Amino acid sequence: APSDPDLVERARAAKAKLGERVFVLGHHYQRDEVIEFADVTGDSFKLARDAAARPQAEYIVFCGVHFMAESADILTTADQQVILPDLAAGCSMADMASAEQVAECWDVLTEAGVADVTVPVSYMNSSADIKAFTGRHGGTICTSSNAKRALEWAFSQGEKVLFLPDQHLGRNTAVREMGFSLDDCVVYNPHKPGGGVTPEQLRAAKMILWRGHCSVHGRFSLDSVEDVRSRIPGVNVLVHPECKHEVVAAADYVGSTEYIIKALEAAPAGSSWAIGTELNLVRRLAKAHPDKRIVFLDKTVCFCSTMNRIDLPHLVWALESLAEGTVVNRIVVDEETEHYAKLALEQMLALP
Ligand code: 13P
Ligand code: SF4
Repeated sequence: APSDPDLVERARAAKAKLGERVFVLGHHYQRDEVIEFADVTGDSFKLARDAAARPQAEYIVFCGVHFMAESADILTTADQQVILPDLAAGCSMADMASAEQVAECWDVLTEAGVADVTVPVSYMNSSADIKAFTGRHGGTICTSSNAKRALEWAFSQGEKVLFLPDQHLGRNTAVREMGFSLDDCVVYNPHKPGGGVTPEQLRAAKMILWRGHCSVHGRFSLDSVEDVRSRIPGVNVLVHPECKHEVVAAADYVGSTEYIIKALEAAPAGSSWAIGTELNLVRRLAKAHPDKRIVFLDKTVCFCSTMNRIDLPHLVWALESLAEGTVVNRIVVDEETEHYAKLALEQMLALP
């Protein structure tokens, strides 16, 4: 549905009043009505970098989810304020690893005698606490666009990797891109005593995968791929690496949201594509490329409900409040957490 013209006008007016004082970042999974007001759009890596590159903006309005806003707060200067237009925009995957659970996991690894040779690699999609744990233990953050480089770096520092919280990104990167076998991976389940694994398994594993996943990408199945291939002959299947291993193994192309966008820009007219990622992005791509056939990999999968929490009314409210001098929904990471989380984020930014 087209946006309410009154709200569009109010968003424009508030942004114009704020001028250079505000910078609006929009993740590719955001609604069209929000993307329209983003000064820059990107995948999680690009947005983290862009937030850090705007020291002149007093306010960073982050149209994305909570962990992204936290990362922006960590990477921006102390004077800059990061605003998340709806505080309920969390991420179910990030919620699958708490600081207590991860500390317990490290104890389990210590008891198994492997903590010393294990390097934590945490997906951007994690809380600031988890990033701080990662920094404290000499690890790095990664996103879906640099996971391979992050793992290569980690294996140059130690013998094993504790990858959290997305088991699929960890497994897909290790097996698809780095030559590890499925047997080199073991899954640590934070809800089971000892992670549900034996010390022997931990000692034998190269990749210790946290049992977390994305509730949206986890719903694409091998059936989705087989079904679309039978319906659309010659279709190219392109999925995000947060999808399950069997889905990624059956796909033709795999990559981050930024990769997906570029792949479709480069695709020849008349080609057919089935995309396994968030629906807002897939719809926007289909609209942007009327000369290509672009379909959603599985019609039973829907939007990321937390990404969708940020809508035009929330954005207008945040911008108007700022324009009137009231800072709402500020995301602040405490100093100590920020210090260690920053080490891990900077390690990611320094990856070759
Ligand atoms: P990217 O934009 O880095 O591909 O991340 C996808 C995602 O799930 C963000 O929540
Ligand atoms: Fe989290 Fe998945 Fe939504 Fe990304 S798409 S914010 S990983 S739940």
